[in-house]
Amino acid sequence: MRKKIVAGNWKMNLTFNEAEDLLDEIVDLLENETIDAQVIVCPPYPYLEMASDIAKESNFFVGAQNISPFEAGAYTGEVSSSMLTSMEITHCIIGHSERRKYFNEDDKMLTAKINQSLEHKIIPIFCVGEALPEREAGDHFEVVRHQVRHGLFHLDTDEFEKVIIAYEPVWAIGTGVTASPEQAKEMHDYIRSLIAERYGKDIADKTIILYGGSCNSKNAKEIFAQEGVDGGLIGGASLIPEEFLAICKAAK
Ligand code: 13P
Repeated sequence: MRKKIVAGNWKMNLTFNEAEDLLDEIVDLLENETIDAQVIVCPPYPYLEMASDIAKESNFFVGAQNISPFEAGAYTGEVSSSMLTSMEITHCIIGHSERRKYFNEDDKMLTAKINQSLEHKIIPIFCVGEALPEREAGDHFEVVRHQVRHGLFHLDTDEFEKVIIAYEPVWAIGTGVTASPEQAKEMHDYIRSLIAERYGKDIADKTIILYGGSCNSKNAKEIFAQEGVDGGLIGGASLIPEEFLAICKAAK
């Protein structure tokens, strides 16, 4: 039985004080509710220490939104996996479409990031998903297959077992157009079939695959109810405490 997970990706939003207020509100809301899902919050780097301190008194995990492909050294502006581990950061989003697009992160770089994170015991949340023209051309399965294979399939079974995958169709991110529950299920089933081919059915059945893209309190329940959809990676709605809580409650 796979555990449901809801992860909030704050992206590049909020001042320090706003972030503190949001974390306090999340703590309050989580305290007063029974949430079955594992909750992860991924704030911008400068707020990670505060988030990790607050998380110690609460029941959520803290993840980063990015990680360096390098181990350590003269890489100005980079943040390494071991730095995150030393701050008790447990997860990291890797391969988000915004990083692929705006920062030219390619397969080679993403593989290095995945390796760095696993080496330092950070659980990667590896994002895949097709752009609109790719879906319109009927290429969405091929695009996602390429991303999954080239990003993850070099891992041995022990390593792969630690990975969380997030299917985030690019056309659904921040657009208000969400994938239909059927579209989400179809792609999640497809990704699981690729994993089964490579690592076997047992590992495929254990792998957590999240959905992301305009997920909100209104559509979360139906999407998460699909067999094979194990929760969500939430952008905009994770900045609104009541929305985020409602999405967390929808994951059971
Ligand atoms: P939105 O929920 O704002 O569409 O963003 C999804 C996302 O990119 C999460 O990583």
